[in-house]
Amino acid sequence: MNFPQEVLLPQKTIFKKGSALQIAEESLEYGSQGLIVYGKSFERSGKKNKILVQFPSYTKVDFFCRSGGEPTLDEITRVINKAKSINADWITGIGGGSVLDLAKASAGLFNAGEKPAFYQEGGKLEERGIPFIAVPTTAGTGSEATINSVIINKEKRVKLSIRDKTFLAKKVILDVELLEDLPPLVISYAAMDALVQAYESYISKNATWFSENFALKAIELICKNILPAYESGKEENLSSLLLGSYFAGIAFASSRLGVIHGIAHPLGALYSLPHGLICSVCLIPSIKINKEIMGKKYEIMSNLAGMDLIKRGEMLLLAFKISSPFKGKPLIEKEKIIEQTLKSGSTAANPKPINAKDVEFILREIF
Ligand SMILES: [Fe+2]
Repeated sequence: MNFPQEVLLPQKTIFKKGSALQIAEESLEYGSQGLIVYGKSFERSGKKNKILVQFPSYTKVDFFCRSGGEPTLDEITRVINKAKSINADWITGIGGGSVLDLAKASAGLFNAGEKPAFYQEGGKLEERGIPFIAVPTTAGTGSEATINSVIINKEKRVKLSIRDKTFLAKKVILDVELLEDLPPLVISYAAMDALVQAYESYISKNATWFSENFALKAIELICKNILPAYESGKEENLSSLLLGSYFAGIAFASSRLGVIHGIAHPLGALYSLPHGLICSVCLIPSIKINKEIMGKKYEIMSNLAGMDLIKRGEMLLLAFKISSPFKGKPLIEKEKIIEQTLKSGSTAANPKPINAKDVEFILREIF
C-alpha cells in the first residue's frame, strides 16, 4: 500500500462542543505554569473569562494578545520572552491560523539557541521546545495539524515557514462553540483556504493513500458545508467545516501543498492581503495548469463537489463576492514573485513541474 514513510499526528484530538472548557485541564497536564496566546476577537467574545476560571488558583497563567496581521519573527521573540518570564511549561494558542502559527513557533523555539530568523533560513533546531496545545477558532488553516508556522520576515519582506517535527501540537481541541460568532467573510476566506489545501494535497505529487483519504473527506465536508455555514452560520455546518479543515491539515502535513501556496506566500508578503483570499483567486488558474496531469482525480473531486470542479470554484467565488484583489493593481517585483514561487517547498509538491511560464500564467489570470 502507498503509505507515507512517516506520519506525525497530535497525541490527542478532542472534537466536542463545549470542549474549550477543558483547555485548563488539558494544558495543566504539562505543568502548572503556561502562556495562552490569543487574538483580539477571542478577547472580545466573552469566552475568555469562562475558560480562565477553569484554571485553579495555584496555577500561574499569563496571556499574550495579538494585535492582528500576520505573525512576524519579532513577535515570536516577544512571546518567548513573556513565556520565559513565568517559566512556562506549555503554550496554548486559541485563535485563527496566525495565532496558532505564532504560538506553535514560540513553543517550538522556546529553548532555541539562535534567533527565530536563523531557523526560518533553514538552520537546524537542536533544542526541544515546550508543549503546544492548539485550539482553532476558525475553520481554515489546519495549523493545528502541521509542523510549520508561516511567519513574516519584515526586514526581508518575505513570508516563509519555520518548521520542525517537534513543533506539532501535543493536543488539539476542536470546539465549534468558538466559531459561533465568526463573520461570514472570515468563514468564507478560511474555508476557501481549507478547500485549496485539501485540493493541493489530493493532487500533490507526494500524495499517498493516507493523505488522499483525509484530503477527499475534507473536500467532501467543506463542499457540503461551506455555503450553508457562510449563509446561516449554523452549528452543524461550522462543525463539519472545523473537522474538514483539520483533515485538510492532516493531509497536507503529510503530502505538502502545491503552486497555489507557493505563489500565495510572496504575494501575501508583498501585497498584505488575506491568505484565504489569495488562495481563492489562484484556485482556478491552478486547476487549469494541473487538469491534464491530475487525470481521474479531477472527476473524483468534481463528484464530491457536486459539479464540475472549475464551475464549483467559480460558483463559490461568486457566492462569496470574491473577485481578484490584484485586478487593476500594478504587478510589483514580478521577478521576485517568480523566483520565490519556484523556490517554494509547496511548489515542489505540485503534480505538474512548475516553471516560470506557469507562474506568469497565474499572474496574468489574477492581475
Ligand atoms: Fe493555506
